[in-house]
Amino acid sequence: MAEVTNLNEAQEAAVAAGLDLERLPAHIGIIMDGNGRWATERGLPRLAGHRDGYKTLRSVLLFANDLGIRYLTVYAFSAENWRRPEDEVHGLMSLIEQAAVDELRVMHQNNVRVRVAGRLNEVPEGLRRALERGVETTAFNTGIVFTLAVNYGGRAEIVDAVRALASEGATPDDITEEAISKRLYNPDIPEPDLLIRTAGEMRWSNFLLWQGAYAELVVADMPWPAFSLDDLVSACIEYQNRTRKFGGVGR
Ligand code: IPE
Ligand code: IPE
Ligand code: MG
Repeated sequence: MAEVTNLNEAQEAAVAAGLDLERLPAHIGIIMDGNGRWATERGLPRLAGHRDGYKTLRSVLLFANDLGIRYLTVYAFSAENWRRPEDEVHGLMSLIEQAAVDELRVMHQNNVRVRVAGRLNEVPEGLRRALERGVETTAFNTGIVFTLAVNYGGRAEIVDAVRALASEGATPDDITEEAISKRLYNPDIPEPDLLIRTAGEMRWSNFLLWQGAYAELVVADMPWPAFSLDDLVSACIEYQNRTRKFGGVGR
């Protein structure tokens, strides 16, 4: 156990709430849902909800980094979200691009390593460049690995991996779980231990389908803009109370 005197503020708060810092989930994935509902309930345009969701993400990311979480992957825009009205899609693309530009310095100062997952060749060029710049600038940072899933679909990712195998001339025997895993968007990032979805929705909406096969699922009731740092700690505590069995009989 780490010396109590060495704990930072985030860790102290989490320990006080009952979290065991020795058994943190290494990789947390979040489906940040409910921005639209949060805004509509307040008589605001949906985009106002996305903007507030961005503030939540900022604080959750920095807190997770302080806590000692190694990997955080968040679902920012799904491969299916293109079905939304054009102004919302455009607003989201602009918001993500602006955030990528504005937050780069803070990410870098906090030793965050930025990664992306998704079909970036299909997003507006400005956004793609902003994301690539973030990835390049922070490539040698050693803090939390923060992956932004943009135009991401779990099925599309598996299709892309199998296509890569086919283009390498793979035979049926070459198609193994390991071979597919190695050709996913970020093969060096370990599978998520904990997947959180907000806004009470009990579905997975095509997020990390392959990697999340044995992740522990936590659904939180509040919409994403209302998700607090305490809620993150609670989700981690819930994770620590689960028994992971991976098909075996457990401990
Ligand atoms: C999640 O919030 C953000 C994105 C999907 C980009 P929603 O926009 O899905 O919010 P609800 O589900 O409509 O409330
Ligand atoms: C999942 O949320 C995608 C993101 C959070 C980016 P959705 O709101 O798009 O999912 P569905 O449509 O409710 O399944
Ligand atoms: Mg939604």
